[in-house]
Amino acid sequence: MVVYGKRAIKVTVKFNVCSSLDETLQALKAALLSSIDKSIKAKDHCAIALAGGGTPQPLYRELSHSKLPWYKLTVTLTDERWVPTDHQDSNQNMITQCLLNQAGSELKFIPLKNNFASAIEGEAGCEASLSAQMKQLDVVVLGMGDDGHFASIFPDTDNVSVLLDQSTPQKCMAVSPPGKQPRMSLTLSYLLTAKVIYLLITGDKKKQIIDDIMSNQFSSQQYPVSILLNQQVCPVHIYWNA
Ligand code: 6PG
Repeated sequence: MVVYGKRAIKVTVKFNVCSSLDETLQALKAALLSSIDKSIKAKDHCAIALAGGGTPQPLYRELSHSKLPWYKLTVTLTDERWVPTDHQDSNQNMITQCLLNQAGSELKFIPLKNNFASAIEGEAGCEASLSAQMKQLDVVVLGMGDDGHFASIFPDTDNVSVLLDQSTPQKCMAVSPPGKQPRMSLTLSYLLTAKVIYLLITGDKKKQIIDDIMSNQFSSQQYPVSILLNQQVCPVHIYWNA
């Protein structure tokens, strides 16, 4: 496992290059379990936000077989498509199948989808639910799209600036990415309340995006992940395989 890192003033971005998906999953699972253990030792609890999409699904299945005090974990999603929770595109549906069903009812899951017809109408309720039950995060797992988005912080949405503004007080915001389902996304400011953020990516295209950002040190809303990699608050550990 080759690691190179850019140490900013306070924050380390570590890029872990793995030789296979299995090596990636084992390495990331070990790191995740260690972070969860640290949080439980420190505060007898761990608040985790997990990415949707396809890449992390085998990780969640791996994690579901781990011996963890699940009752000490509170889990939410980094973002959610505003579809019924039994819909094939629902991240809640995915995480239920990959993790929640196996981890049992002890684990406390905080959904982002509520019964409001639209994400805009559901935003206040989602914010209230997170504020009441997950004031801050301890561990985050993110994925990244080919356009450099993470969570549902897409470069071409009206509120991308607010979503990426580290002084934004909100924990979540409704997002309407052009040509995609409306979504609810956690904000960067809320994600950065975590002690550590893990970014799981695969493929050469996504690695090139990271390499460009790391070597040119640019920070632009056109690539939201560049803002994440250049912030000075929370360590970001990237796990990648070809
Ligand atoms: C979602 C995710 C999103 C995802 C990226 C990468 O709801 O789609 O939260 O941010 O992490 O789009 O998705 P893949 O892992 O499927 O490439």
